[in-house]
Amino acid sequence: MRLSVIGCGYLGAVHAACMASIGHEVIGVDIDPARISTLAAGHAPFYEPGLTELLSSVAGSGRLRFTTDITRAGGAAVHFLCVGTPQQEGELRADLSHLHAATSSLLPLLQPGDIVVGKSTVPVGTAEALAGLVSARGATLVWNPEFLREGCAVEDTLHPDRIVYGLPTEQGVPTEAGIKAQALLDQVYAVSLSDGAAQVITDYATAQLVKVAANSFLATKISFINAMAELCEASGGDVTDLADAIGYDERIGRRFLSAGLGFGGGCLPKDIRAFTARAGELGVSDALSFLTEVDKINQRRRARMVDLTREVCGGSIVGKTIAVLGVTFKPDTDDIRDSPALSVARQMMQEGAHVTVTDPRGLDKARRVHPDLRCADDVLEAGRGADVVVLGTEWEQYRTIEPDALAQVVRHRRMLDGRNALDAGVWRNAGWTYRALGRPHWNPTIAGLDLS
Ligand code: UDX
Repeated sequence: MRLSVIGCGYLGAVHAACMASIGHEVIGVDIDPARISTLAAGHAPFYEPGLTELLSSVAGSGRLRFTTDITRAGGAAVHFLCVGTPQQEGELRADLSHLHAATSSLLPLLQPGDIVVGKSTVPVGTAEALAGLVSARGATLVWNPEFLREGCAVEDTLHPDRIVYGLPTEQGVPTEAGIKAQALLDQVYAVSLSDGAAQVITDYATAQLVKVAANSFLATKISFINAMAELCEASGGDVTDLADAIGYDERIGRRFLSAGLGFGGGCLPKDIRAFTARAGELGVSDALSFLTEVDKINQRRRARMVDLTREVCGGSIVGKTIAVLGVTFKPDTDDIRDSPALSVARQMMQEGAHVTVTDPRGLDKARRVHPDLRCADDVLEAGRGADVVVLGTEWEQYRTIEPDALAQVVRHRRMLDGRNALDAGVWRNAGWTYRALGRPHWNPTIAGLDLS
């Protein structure tokens, strides 16, 4: 089938490449000429495992092209909207300007019978507003949220666990145009559907809500365990044992219960804020007031990490040399948006510490955004002369650092594990002061309960 993918960021570039790899003819469109020329040359404009290989495997087929000229999307039967909806500056709401710009340039190109498929994360009500504009051209809008995770985006796109369609409905039943659109989109996703991906057919409102509800749930799960980490810190408990123990309950599950510096990235933080803002506009702000707390718990972890660093440095980090391992918001990506590790590094710099960061993939982006950041190519270089080492992102190569090798270059053997990713015993046995968020240290000074 002939498809267009409008917006070639983390979502669109992967979607375009995956759709071409399963046999569709795809034109990817983006307003950024640098990104388009990189993609057109068969390279990934960001680090995403498997994407470069996928781009080069389809390059020879002629099925995947990229352009900045949206008129070349004309002639495709299915148009995917994959543009970003970041947080609006100075507000909690999402910025829909890219979505509006993309749809206005797409509308004149639509032919009767085409479908427009919204994949961007949007406030509920957006699809309803776009649907009229699309149907005025004889085309149909379907809302089809995307659940891919950076770091496994190719796998998630090729093998989704569920496919959700929000269709136009009348009195709760899909319209004739909606049923036709479903049949067309089923052809696009035929491989995943025959592989057994679950399918949920619903209305526009539900489809838009599904995405933000899923991300809110994940954010809540992370902040729940981080709230337990606060309790553990106050009482001498160990949040990793606690997470293991409650995670064995299948109703709870261990995934997304890793305590540490909390969530970041281009999705979870802005999605919970935009959802809260939208609930307010809909007059149901109380329903989501807990998400404000989820956000606050998440932010407090970053502050706690700086406090802990100050504590192990004897009360002040002014003039101290600090190595921060990791600048990306999680491993296996080069994305530094709202990165907890980078935020901690910046806070410590502002407080007067000499901070050196390192990261296997994120340094170029970090330097571009923060030209004053001191960067090192690897852990040993970052750790040279350090009074304290902070693990901010749990890259596999950081999990396996040799404590003895790092001990050769640091000034003081102090490891602060912001992701509960290291083996405390191994580090302590190697003579390091090991501290982590939500876990006890050698001599807990927690007062027992007064039973008198
Ligand atoms: C998320 C959703 O998972 C995905 O379905 C959606 O499409 C986009 O948003 P992503 O932003 O790629 O994906 O990252 P994710 O793997 O969800 O991690 C988000 C953040 O939570 C990271 O900063 C990660 O380090 C943190 N996290 C995750 C924890 O702090 N603890 C955990 O147990 C799990």
